[in-house]
Amino acid sequence: MRAKLINGKEMAENIKISLKKQISEFAYPPQLAIVMVGNDDASAVYVRNKQKAAAQIGMVSHFHHLDEDIREEEVIKIIQQLNEDSEVNGIIVQLPLPKHLNTHNIINSISPFKDVDGFHPINTGMLQNNQQPYFVAATPLGIMKMLNGIYSDLSGKSVTIIGASMIVGRPLATLLLNQGCTVSITHSQTKNIKQYTGTADIVISACGVANLVKQDWIKAGAVLIDVGINRTKEGKLCGDIDFEDVKDKAFAITPVPGGVGPMTVAMLLLNTVNAYILQRG
Ligand code: GUN
Repeated sequence: MRAKLINGKEMAENIKISLKKQISEFAYPPQLAIVMVGNDDASAVYVRNKQKAAAQIGMVSHFHHLDEDIREEEVIKIIQQLNEDSEVNGIIVQLPLPKHLNTHNIINSISPFKDVDGFHPINTGMLQNNQQPYFVAATPLGIMKMLNGIYSDLSGKSVTIIGASMIVGRPLATLLLNQGCTVSITHSQTKNIKQYTGTADIVISACGVANLVKQDWIKAGAVLIDVGINRTKEGKLCGDIDFEDVKDKAFAITPVPGGVGPMTVAMLLLNTVNAYILQRG
């Protein structure tokens, strides 16, 4: 194996240690409200991980588990109550939401000052304008920390992202652009994705297709970031990048699990600590 492993788990643990110390010096623990609608199995696992990590660093989390068939107005009412509750510093709504709910209406009802997922249009808009947003989405933020650990300067790097989601692909493309990268965003309608990944210095996949990216999709010495959490037909956990196939060709790669996932959780905690500071001064 030639590629260096990018150890997201270890980076995340170090960040959590410093957040824990920071919180121990606060007058009160920061409080994170987590809203989840329905019973999506994957979402339940992610939410448990977030709650566990919050508890580890002395942060209080409140889990609002709402019925699958709740009306949109009811969800928005609960969010408005959380917006007005001065004890609550950060609010997240776990996605995806059930089909009958409009994700935009619900996200837009979160106060931009408590939007620790960085999904509110005020925060995404500020990011687009290369203005410092109150909060940046956790997964892209974690990926930037990883890349900034590898490169002292990202300017001029060519990056191909697979996946154009609101959660990962779009904010990540903007963050990279703001640091001087040349970014291609590919997605399910892109013809010949390989043509874009094959020339990139950095390939980031967030499309949820198990083992999609193979050795002949990348250039030698590329840095590979794998956001996918998938299962093979045999039930084995795997990313979007075929780790075994690419490991002798890449310069560095994030493992699944233990790469992007733990960094996402650490960045959510970091955003919530920053929310506490923003609100309490
Ligand atoms: N679903 C998948 N990733 C995320 C995330 O970062 N935040 C929320 N709220 N939902 C998600």
